[in-house]
Amino acid sequence: MEKLEKLYEGKAKKLYATNDPDILWVEYMNQATAGNGAKKAQIEGKGELNNHITSVIFDLLKARGVESHFVQRLSDTEQLVRRMNMFPLEIIMRNTAAGSFAQRYGVAEGTELKKPILEFCVKSDELGDPFINDDGIIALGLASEEELATISRQARAVNDALLDIFTKIGVQLVDFKIEEGKTGDGKILLADEITPDTCRLWNKDSKDGKVEHLDKDLFRRDLGDIIPAYEDIYARLTALAKDE
Ligand code: C5P
Repeated sequence: MEKLEKLYEGKAKKLYATNDPDILWVEYMNQATAGNGAKKAQIEGKGELNNHITSVIFDLLKARGVESHFVQRLSDTEQLVRRMNMFPLEIIMRNTAAGSFAQRYGVAEGTELKKPILEFCVKSDELGDPFINDDGIIALGLASEEELATISRQARAVNDALLDIFTKIGVQLVDFKIEEGKTGDGKILLADEITPDTCRLWNKDSKDGKVEHLDKDLFRRDLGDIIPAYEDIYARLTALAKDE
C-alpha cells in the first residue's frame, strides 16, 4: 500500500489517500485540544497511544459483531481505514450524567441514568457543535430517516459492546462520542476513533471513592497528565484482547 497526498488534517489526525481508492492512511498526532480548539497542547506519546488503543478497541468490537472502518494498524502512529463519506454528526451515548449533559440539566456528575441516552450534535467548529434532534437531522438533510435509524441502532450496539469491554477491565464507561459514515457501496459503518480522547472512562477501583479520570478530562480540566492514564487503559485493553 502506498501513502499518497494528504486529504485532510483535523485536530488529532491526518488523512492521506492511498493507491487503493477505497482505503485511507491515517496518522495520529500528538496534539490535544479542548473547548473546540480554545485550549491546545502537544503531548508526547498521545498519538501513538490513541492509535494503539483505537486499533485494539476496533478489534474487540469486531469480535462482538460490531463492524467499523478499521482495516489494520501499520505502525505506532499509523493505520489503514476504509474510505467513508462521513455524516456531519457527533453521535454521543451517555450511561452516566457528566460533562455538558450534567451542566445542561443541573444534575450531579456521576448520577446514574435510568437508560442510556443517545444525543446528536452537528459537527461544526464554527457553530461549536450544536445539539440537534432526529427531526432536525432529517429536516436539514444531514441523514435520511433510514440512515438515522441505522446510525442510532449501531450507536446503541457500540454502547452495549463497549460496556462489556470496559466492565471487564474495571472501567466505568460514562459516555462517549462516535462518528459514522457510508462506504462507496452504501454501507453505514462506525468510523473515526474510540479512545480516551472521545470517551469518559472512570476507574472503578479508585482508592478514596473519588472519581479517577482515565480520559481527556484530565487535560480539559487541568487534573493531571493524560499519558499514564492512557497507558493504563491501553495495558488493560491489551490484557483483555490476549485473554479472548
Ligand atoms: O462534553 P460532553 O459531555 O457533551 O461530551 C460527551 C462525550 O463526548 C465525552 O465522552 C467527550 O469526550 C465526547 N466528545 C468528543 N468530542 C467532542 C465532544 C464530546 O469526543 N467534540
